Amino acid sequence: MKSEVKYNDFTFVPYITNQQIKARIHQLGQQITADFRDKNPLFICVLNGAFPFASDLFREVDTDGEIAFIRLKSYSGTQSTGQVKEIVGLTDDIEGRNVIVVEDIIDTGHTIHRLTKDLLARNPADLKVATLLFKPEALERPVDPDYVGFNIPKKFIIGFGLDIDGKARNLNDIYMLKDEE
Ligand code: IMP
Ligand code: MG
Repeated sequence: MKSEVKYNDFTFVPYITNQQIKARIHQLGQQITADFRDKNPLFICVLNGAFPFASDLFREVDTDGEIAFIRLKSYSGTQSTGQVKEIVGLTDDIEGRNVIVVEDIIDTGHTIHRLTKDLLARNPADLKVATLLFKPEALERPVDPDYVGFNIPKKFIIGFGLDIDGKARNLNDIYMLKDEE
């Protein structure tokens, strides 16, 4: 792990090591395996950020699971405030399926709130949310994820899928924006 990394003139410092991430994903995998044994879960990975987490988690879950990938498209809706997000690429029929949405991070909760609402309208048998990172203090929506890797403070982080302007997703470890001195 580097002692610091720089992107766009911002400095980031080590926060969660790859070893800690992998160990935690292993635990989540065991938990999900126990909860979904014989339930043939369908993992839905929310691109782009969740791909490293989903890749690891999926392989840590010892069930007959399947995986699908979606993106969320933001556009200016009819509402005057906030962004509306539309699901792109969900070709799988989720009716009657045991679905686990896999997210990289829940910040304000707007994204996951909207997404779960849309997915529930497609009548899954069960809908759970797994997120690698969760900022409880930043929540603006009533969101209660079922599987959380790490609860973190309301700070900007990068690495392991999380980006700054599309960069830094390839960092193996997670780094936090350094406080101004
Ligand atoms: P929301 O605020 O919960 O709707 O989160 C929206 C999206 O913002 C997440 O899916 C991430 O892509 C991004 N995001 C939120 N917090 C961070 C962060 O600390 N680093 C990088 N991306 C973030
Ligand atoms: Mg994201």
